[in-house]
Amino acid sequence: MKIVVVENYEKLSSEAARIIINQLKKKPDSVLGLATGGTPVGMYENLRKAYAEGEVSFKDVKTYNLDEYCGIDPKHPQSYHYYMHQNLFDYIDIKPENVHLPSASENWENAAKAYNDLLNQTEIDLQVLGIGSNGHIGFNEPGTSFEQETFVVELAEKTRLDNQRFFNSLDEVPRYAITMGIKNIMQAKQILLLISGKNKAETAKRLLEGKVSNDFPASVLHLHPNVTVILDEDAYGLQK
Ligand code: GLP
Repeated sequence: MKIVVVENYEKLSSEAARIIINQLKKKPDSVLGLATGGTPVGMYENLRKAYAEGEVSFKDVKTYNLDEYCGIDPKHPQSYHYYMHQNLFDYIDIKPENVHLPSASENWENAAKAYNDLLNQTEIDLQVLGIGSNGHIGFNEPGTSFEQETFVVELAEKTRLDNQRFFNSLDEVPRYAITMGIKNIMQAKQILLLISGKNKAETAKRLLEGKVSNDFPASVLHLHPNVTVILDEDAYGLQK
């Protein structure tokens, strides 16, 4: 696990975007695994800028998102479909047919299986991850088996409380999501994990301690051969 500590959120965002841009320059038809949440917003901003300035093209890129809430329409402002269009897809030259997210407005179990089948037919070159304060990756909550494939997950109370800030009330936060499983995530050739902010410092500390356990899903990344973790100083704080 390669650890990169940068001064602040701006640097984390530009450094993360730089890794993706370099990947696309090296392999223009890369397959990217993408994440949502607050953390990668700045990275997407940098990618939009790089595209607008002609530095990079997404015309042959394929993307697979980690997860989607169940029971909210793709047009809902808090759906991850909406997020991805707002933050990236609507501003770049990616082909609509090359964009993939779990489709959680239909039969959830069938949709999870269909997404898993899709993932098993591809190989992700670079998977971007954020981390939940409880150590979740995608929506793989504490206790999830490392062998888990894409599934319908009941969100942990802590996750719903953390994500309440994006909704009008806790009641509106979905209770279920479809997420790539830990096994799918671990099949990516390369993984980029972003951790930002003081509120993630305890989480970062626990990850960097290096103990691998189902109780802390992100710890599985210690078992992957090609992981880069970018932390800003606020997130790294407790290691100083
Ligand atoms: C969300 C997402 C994760 C994300 C994490 C952290 O619920 N499912 O993919 O990495 O929680 O989000 P944030 O970056 O907003 O802290």
